[in-house]
Amino acid sequence: MKHLTGIAGLTDAEIGALLDRADNYADALEKGGFQSELLRGAVIINMFFEASTRTRTSFELAALRLGAGVINWDAETSALKKGETFADTIAVLNAMKPDAVIIRHSEYGAPEYLAKRVSCAVINAGDSYREHPTQALLDALTIRRRKGRIEGLTVTICGDIAHSRVAASNMILLSRLGACVRIVAPAALMPDKLPAAGIEKFDTMKKGLPGSDIVMMLRPQKERMQAGLIDSDKKYFEDYGLTREKLDWAGPEALVMHPGPLTRGIEIADDVADDPKRSLILQQVANGVAVRMAALDLLLSARKNT
Ligand code: NCD
Repeated sequence: MKHLTGIAGLTDAEIGALLDRADNYADALEKGGFQSELLRGAVIINMFFEASTRTRTSFELAALRLGAGVINWDAETSALKKGETFADTIAVLNAMKPDAVIIRHSEYGAPEYLAKRVSCAVINAGDSYREHPTQALLDALTIRRRKGRIEGLTVTICGDIAHSRVAASNMILLSRLGACVRIVAPAALMPDKLPAAGIEKFDTMKKGLPGSDIVMMLRPQKERMQAGLIDSDKKYFEDYGLTREKLDWAGPEALVMHPGPLTRGIEIADDVADDPKRSLILQQVANGVAVRMAALDLLLSARKNT
């Protein structure tokens, strides 16, 4: 594995190795005070062209926990603002020989574009609505650690599927790992084409939730939507917001996930998001560090050995 630009390009063996390595790191992080020198001397550039709290911070923490240095490159204060092209910026950063670049970009395929032009490892931290591979891996790890397996579980992803790279990467990954994957969305937020086969589509939560082991909620990504796809937040919440009552339709054991950021009162009610027995949301955040440690470890150790 030279880059991690999407789940679609990974082999089963690579997925297994990433999840197993991340599982070990999650154990170590739970004990507290983990620090390794594995990647000492390596320098990682975080290149985020879109807002981020958890993804950017967890990549940074993951690098620091493994002894690597981190540069948080900032588009707003970069030479792009003076008219430099993206291609030239990439060439400049590559000439400084970083060991990895983590990229989040609104353009479809930006991580592949970058990977073709640099000599270091590239990790996709989310591109347009296409893929967000480390998010799907941390979601799979969270399910596996909590339920002991993924195969045979029913995972229902609800909300703005059309604009969600989280949904796309999860549909590919969870179905490959043997889960029964459902999606629930209003017609305006349901994509025409799905990235994996065998996904079951529903247009209401009443039909889609019963029998779900996991209910994964997504934020309506208004920054990617044409105006008018959601006419009222209140109506959206009534129809597609996860409340205690709707969670009961899924079943008494169903667990709640959300990649964040939450827009409370639009796709999820406070009492559901904050229920320590049913919500895995902060567990997902914690496992995000472990998954990103595994990705950096496997990508950079492989490069050291070639
Ligand atoms: C998501 C993203 O940026 O794709 N957030 C994340 O990385 N945890 C989802 C979103 O922005 O709603």
